[in-house]
Amino acid sequence: MIINRNFWLGLLRESLESRSIAWLAGVRRVGKTVLCSSIPDSEYFDCELPRVRKYFEDEEAFFRSLKKEKIIILDEIHRLDNPSQVLKIAADHFPGLKIIATGSSSLSTSKKFRDTLTGRKHNIRLTPLNTYDIKDFNINDTGMRLLRGGLPPFILSSAFPEKEFQEWMDSFWAKDVQELFSVGKKASFMKFVELLFLQSGGMFEATKFSRPCEVSRVTIQNYLNILEQTFIASAIKPFSTYKPNEITYAPKVYAFDTGFVCYYRGWDKLRNEDHGLLWEHFVLNELMSLLQDFRINYWRDKQRHEIDFILQFHGKPPITIECRWKSEQLNLKSLIRFRELYPEGLNAVVAEDITRPMEKEKNGLKIHYLGLKDLAGWLKEKGLMRNITCSKGAHH
Ligand SMILES: Nc1ncnc2c1ncn2[C@@H]1O[C@H](COP(=O)(O)OP(=O)(O)OP(=O)(O)O)[C@@H](O)[C@H]1O
Ligand SMILES: [Mg+2]
Repeated sequence: MIINRNFWLGLLRESLESRSIAWLAGVRRVGKTVLCSSIPDSEYFDCELPRVRKYFEDEEAFFRSLKKEKIIILDEIHRLDNPSQVLKIAADHFPGLKIIATGSSSLSTSKKFRDTLTGRKHNIRLTPLNTYDIKDFNINDTGMRLLRGGLPPFILSSAFPEKEFQEWMDSFWAKDVQELFSVGKKASFMKFVELLFLQSGGMFEATKFSRPCEVSRVTIQNYLNILEQTFIASAIKPFSTYKPNEITYAPKVYAFDTGFVCYYRGWDKLRNEDHGLLWEHFVLNELMSLLQDFRINYWRDKQRHEIDFILQFHGKPPITIECRWKSEQLNLKSLIRFRELYPEGLNAVVAEDITRPMEKEKNGLKIHYLGLKDLAGWLKEKGLMRNITCSKGAHH
């Protein structure tokens, strides 16, 4: 049974209103194919099939043979010999056609893509289940979403899918890393993934990985780039205006999915103290799904004051987002320090135990307390996010 992911269907529809092409990217098994095939009035083509690839030997004739006004899905488009040319011809000569093209890493990764599509496409990154999806999938237990992660088959499976995590990693290696990047040493690369996931959410220093993975610092940096381009990890850079004591360079790196964090840590159930870290990952996932390619930062100083996430919208003062499993765990010290340096801007705390949004004043700071599913509404209300029209109603 296909579950409609209304947030994403809305986002796709909205993208195609203003551009001819939507590039839908996301990791393996995140639900790209199922999502695309659930779009009404569309025609689906799996570019992995030789039969389908044949159509594109003469792409003009192929496009002419289709109905004039139509959404067509080109799944795994990088399998075609000349994907960017196909997209360009469709966009320039068949204005009635709307195309959704999918792939498991960013477009720029593939040598076959030259950036000739500027102004013709929107990039959409399909993330593991966000709070809208959780509602669509009818999942009421946040702990389960954290433990199993947000890939649909993992959360839908009746038993805990322990084996599947390793299988997923093996296929990631075979299908994505080996095919798209020339990485020689599987053992080193996989060791790096494991160590990185174990310290997920922490500050990243390439030198620390170099010895256990038996490769150079430069290679480690290259591995990280690969993980970023394939959406397996996100390097979050520090926000800074070079004030004394601010951390200005070292990124924090987050694994893409809470399930994989638990897997590598060997957790098959969660203790109370495990939730905080996973919650932070889940909030980041939500932000990335809502804001898409918007840059998210963190902030830290040498006295270890730290703000989980900073959002800086064009021409607006920095917004702080603190993530706490329980709202009482918020310690104001870091926020006070940050606001001494940057007095203007909104402050939000996103906590699992907030059932309705509220505003509190503490130590002279105005703080918005939000549940995770309130985040989208709050960002919209503050004029910070486009009004994404979900296919069917919104949250509440
Ligand atoms: N919306 C959904 N409703 C129900 N099940 C889903 C949904 N999305 C994904 N699934 C389940 O997850 C599996 C993987 O999804 P899908 O094949 O769409 O992922 P994908 O992103 O296309 O992966 P790949 O990159 O490997 O092609 C599906 O076979 C299905 O079992
Ligand atoms: Mg697929």
